[in-house]
Amino acid sequence: MSEQELRIRKIRNGTVIDHITAGNALNVMKILGINGKEGLVVSVAINVPSSKYGRKDILKIEERELKQDEVNKIILIAPNATINIVKEYQVIDKKRLKLPAELKGFPRCVNPNCITNSGEPVETEFYVIQSEPLKLRCKYCQRITSQDDIFKQF
Ligand code: CTP
Ligand code: ZN
Repeated sequence: MSEQELRIRKIRNGTVIDHITAGNALNVMKILGINGKEGLVVSVAINVPSSKYGRKDILKIEERELKQDEVNKIILIAPNATINIVKEYQVIDKKRLKLPAELKGFPRCVNPNCITNSGEPVETEFYVIQSEPLKLRCKYCQRITSQDDIFKQF
């Protein structure tokens, strides 16, 4: 265990989201709908030194697992994150997230006149043209939806 990891103690059961792009832990909490009122025990480390990426955020949520649609949204703002499931102090599952080349169904296109915003039953589809910060090109209207545009949708 490195010195940095001692910043927050190990958890017994729950989920550790590690290697979150520095400064984005609170956005990940927003995606998860965690505001403190649900009574979950949550530890957050922001801008801690990381050997892999310089700096990173870490979020430890006790007694909570993540749903697949939550994981799919986390990839968009923290493409290098790992999701660790902890049981009785052991990491029993580790998922390294990977941003796909194309996205379907989320987020919404930034263009209000896009067919995907017209009330037609057309799901959004994007090409990922840059990962950090994220830039998506709409397959229908070609407009670029940026990470900032996506934050406004959470
Ligand atoms: N962790 C925790 N509580 C535990 C076990 C692990 O909070 N009981 C945290 C660690 O502090 C770390 C993350 O879960 O932030 C992943 O743990 P581990 O796989 O042991 O660390 P590394 O091998 O450093 O992971 P990686 O290779 O993904 O960087
Ligand atoms: Zn569009």
